[in-house]
Amino acid sequence: MANIINDDIIEKVHDSSDLVNIVSEYLSLKKTGSNYIGLCPFHNEKTPSFTVSETKQLFHCFGCGEGGDVISFIMKIENLSFVEAVKFLADRQGIPLGESKKIDKKIISEKEKIYRINKEAARFYYYNLINNEKPLRYLESRNINKKVLNQFGLGYAKNSWDSIYKHLKGKGYNEEYIEKAGLIGRRKDNTGYYDKFRNRLMFPIIDTKGRIIGFGGRVLDNSMPKYVNSQDTLVFTKGNNLYGLNLVKKYSDRKRIILVEGYMDVISLFNNGINYSVASLGTAFTQNQAKLLKRYGKEVYICYDSDKAGTNATVRVLEILTKEGVKPKVIVLPPGQDPDDFINANGLKEFEKLLDKTLNYVEYKIFINKQKYDLSDIEGKIKFTKEIAKTLGDLKSPIEKDVYIDKISEETGISKEAIQKEILGKNYSQDRRFYKDKYINTRYRNNKNKIMPIKIVLESAHLTAEKTLIKLMIKNRNYYDIIKKYLAKEDFLNYECYALANIIFDKYENNDQLLGLNSSVILEELKVEDNIDPLIINEIMDKDIDFLPEDKVKLIEDLIGTIKYSKLKMERKDIIKEIQRIESKKDKDEGDVGKFKSLCLKLTELDKELKSHI
Ligand code: GTP
Ligand code: MN
Repeated sequence: MANIINDDIIEKVHDSSDLVNIVSEYLSLKKTGSNYIGLCPFHNEKTPSFTVSETKQLFHCFGCGEGGDVISFIMKIENLSFVEAVKFLADRQGIPLGESKKIDKKIISEKEKIYRINKEAARFYYYNLINNEKPLRYLESRNINKKVLNQFGLGYAKNSWDSIYKHLKGKGYNEEYIEKAGLIGRRKDNTGYYDKFRNRLMFPIIDTKGRIIGFGGRVLDNSMPKYVNSQDTLVFTKGNNLYGLNLVKKYSDRKRIILVEGYMDVISLFNNGINYSVASLGTAFTQNQAKLLKRYGKEVYICYDSDKAGTNATVRVLEILTKEGVKPKVIVLPPGQDPDDFINANGLKEFEKLLDKTLNYVEYKIFINKQKYDLSDIEGKIKFTKEIAKTLGDLKSPIEKDVYIDKISEETGISKEAIQKEILGKNYSQDRRFYKDKYINTRYRNNKNKIMPIKIVLESAHLTAEKTLIKLMIKNRNYYDIIKKYLAKEDFLNYECYALANIIFDKYENNDQLLGLNSSVILEELKVEDNIDPLIINEIMDKDIDFLPEDKVKLIEDLIGTIKYSKLKMERKDIIKEIQRIESKKDKDEGDVGKFKSLCLKLTELDKELKSHI
């Protein structure tokens, strides 16, 4: 790397590129305090958590954890290597690349040669196709019309061992480069070269810049192997590309993208009016391909063949996409079909109907495991639940987890608690510890026969979270129903919030008809409480929740997360204090030593937990 671009240039690029300006070209940023904030381009989100610091020239997303400087931003968003990103920025800022150009030039010129060879080959294959009855008839049999043939630049490799070799040689290209392009191979006995693609329908693989980077070739009958693909070359890395992405870039509005298995699926969908599908090029789906899908479609759909191999591959893709922060949806086809079969048999309308009946990660796991296990049988039920528990363990959102626990419990008759234990394993006990925290209870004292919290100073984010949750509960019973699963009224540590929570919980629990609460009724009840700060009550009552982010469930999750995090920090402070107290004790007895050890252990555990929240 350092040979190709020297450190001076990297520094110059750094100094002259303003991260806020550059990020603004990809998403809209809003200034908040000393930072800028916007919707993260690297994962799907509705509440902005992507922050850019102008002074530090760094970005960080609190949602997906992506972060870095201007070069890593360009690498990620443009899908470039380090060197390419530096060049991209240098170019943008008008910085000459100077001496480093030499080595670079050699690689660039080799790549250029391969692109030219590929282009000439595609032209030749195309010419062969439109002048040859056999492959034309084959396309016709698969319902591919002329327009689509042109759009994909399809071609035909003749049934010959030296047709492309001779053609390209005749055009003046050197065999060394034709071989590097992957179109010919050296004969074993070293007597010359042979064409790699023979008697095949040819699919040029085109990148988003319109360059031909490789080929796929299909036989016209049932012989084997059905497909041959170009090997990886200087310009082609299968795992970094998707077939059809060039047309998605050109035609699609990027609202959605469908991942399919095969070349023919992409072509057939396009032929029927779906210009937003891509195929994964016959190798195992990669993390880089996941990144591409994320960039080119707000909603990501998977529509693999409805057979055993397709189902297994779908699960792998789901895992990879979920890791990438994408929430993919699966389009399920009738058994044994692929997208090409389906759309040819049923047409566009029926295919589009499938888009409204998709399954998410968990739903898909439930769907396939229901076919695998017999739920009327005890052993089947247990195996099924264990299988789903693994998937639920991957879910980050506690609320989402809860919804599925209810669902699985209903379907299997296995108790929610048992499922919870299976899913959360060790996490489970930790979660409960948060909700029924002994530490919290020590902060209450008796007040006129009511347990009221002592006024304690909370971190501002924690306080805001409590106030907002209170207002959400007052406004709408649905929010109360969600929040009460995670917080008891005692979990509200602010004195005023706790007082309000008491009233809110009481009202809703005693009247299940209520859809929301009237603030004057609440204020009336509050009158009997001492020590209430009216300013805080006013602030909560006046809070405009219509102004808060649209996705309230996500908001509630974030707020509960904030409170949980803050409580852990408070607990940590108390432990440290206690550790210090024991340490400073002159005559430590055995009890002290034991306590000291267990406090240290607890501290390590807490730090681990705190870390997992960042
Ligand atoms: P059709 O039979 O023409 O409809 O092909 P398909 O697109 O439905 O192909 P299939 O589902 O059999 O395979 C999906 C993809 O896997 C293909 O598009 C190829 O990229 C790849 N593939 C299939 N068969 C082979 C093979 O024999 N060798 C290699 N290298 N790749 C293959
Ligand atoms: Mn097929």
